[in-house]
Amino acid sequence: MNPLLASKQATVHIRGLGGYLPERVMSNDELAAMVDTSDEWIRSRTGITQRHLVAPDEMTADLACKAGKQALDDAGLIVADLDALVVATTTPDMIFPATASIVQAKLGGQGFPAWDIQAVCSGFVYGLAQLEGMMRAGMFRHVLLIGAESMSRIVDWSDRNTCVLFGDGAGAVVLSIGDDDACGIMRSVLHCDGAYRELLMAKHANRGRPPQSGQSVSMNVDAAGVSAIHMRGNEVFRIAVNKLGEVVTEVLAANAMKKSDIDWLIPHQANIRILHATAKKLHLPLERMVITVDQHANTSSASVPLALNHLYRQGGLKYGQVLLLEAFAGGFAWGANMIRWSRK
Ligand code: ACO
Repeated sequence: MNPLLASKQATVHIRGLGGYLPERVMSNDELAAMVDTSDEWIRSRTGITQRHLVAPDEMTADLACKAGKQALDDAGLIVADLDALVVATTTPDMIFPATASIVQAKLGGQGFPAWDIQAVCSGFVYGLAQLEGMMRAGMFRHVLLIGAESMSRIVDWSDRNTCVLFGDGAGAVVLSIGDDDACGIMRSVLHCDGAYRELLMAKHANRGRPPQSGQSVSMNVDAAGVSAIHMRGNEVFRIAVNKLGEVVTEVLAANAMKKSDIDWLIPHQANIRILHATAKKLHLPLERMVITVDQHANTSSASVPLALNHLYRQGGLKYGQVLLLEAFAGGFAWGANMIRWSRK
C-alpha cells in the first residue's frame, strides 16, 4: 500500500467531469403520436418535456466512453493514469463482461480493475460512496466513475405509465486523492429495502433453464424475450418522497451539518414533483436545486452525474460550496453523498 494514500490526510476529490446525451431527441408530442398521452399530461405530472434516445447501434458503453473521455480531459489525465474504472448501470450491454470492461478497452486502458455497480437510479450515489471508501483505504489514486444508461432499450413503448418517464445518457467523474483536507467527498449514507422490490422492476427477458434429466438438450435462449420496466408509480412516488426526506436528514447529521449549510442539491431526476417536495422539506430555494429532468427525463444512474456536470458547465460551482447528492431507485435502494467542492 502506498503510505501517502494510507495517510489520514488523504481526501477524495472530484477532479474532472463529463457528460454525454445521444443526438436523437424525442419530444412529448412525438410520444403522444405513439401512445395515449399528451404533452400537457407529461409536463404537469412529471416536468418532462423531452428525452434523448440512443441510435440503434449505440450501446451503453458508447455513451459511457464519451462521458468518461470528457471527464478525463477535464481532469487533465489520460486513461493510463487510472487505477480503476467503475460503471453504474441498469442497462449493461451484456450479462457479462461488465460494461466497465468494454469501456476500459474502448478507452484504450488495460490492467487496472474495472467493474459494474447495479443499484438502479442510485448506482452513481452507491459508486461514489464505495470508491471513496476504497480510495481512502489506500487502494487507488485516480478512478473513473461513470453512470450510463440506455433505458430506452428496457422501456415498454406501448405502456404510457412508464414510457414517458425515461431517457438515455451518461455522466462521469474522475475521483482523485488530494491533500486539501478542508474539502472533498464527505460521509455518505446508503440504504436498501428489498421488501419493496416488486413496486419497481424489470425482469430478466430470459432466465434460462438448467437441463432436466430425461429432457433433450435445446438452446437456452428465448429469442422473443425483451425486458421491460414495471412500476406502481403512485406507491413509488409516496415512498420516494418519504425516504429522500429521511436520508437527507441522516446524511446532514452524519456530517454534523444543517439544512442551511447546503449550497446545491443535486437530486436524482425522476419527477419534478418529487424534486419540489424534497426542496420544500429542506427549506431550500428552488434556485439552489439542479433540475435537468425537463430536458433529460429519468436517465437512472446517469441522472445525478449529468445534473452535476450541467451545473459545473454553467459555472455554478465555487470552491468550498457544499453539495448534497441524493437518489431513490428500484430495490428500493436509496442514498446520499455530501461533498465540499474543491476545484478552484
Ligand atoms: N398519459 C396520460 N395518462 C396517463 C399516463 C400518461 N402517460 N400515464 C398514466 N396515466 C393515467 C393513468 O392511467 C391514470 O388513469 P385512471 O385514473 O383513469 O386510472 C391517471 O393517469 C393517473 O395515474 P397516476 O398513476 O395516479 O398518476 P400520477 O399522478 O401518480 O403520476 C407518475 C404517475 C408520473 C408515474 C408518478 O406516479 C411518478 O412519477 N412516480 C414515481 C416515479 C419514480 O420516481 N420512479 C423512481 C425512479 S425510476 C427507477 O428507479 C428505474
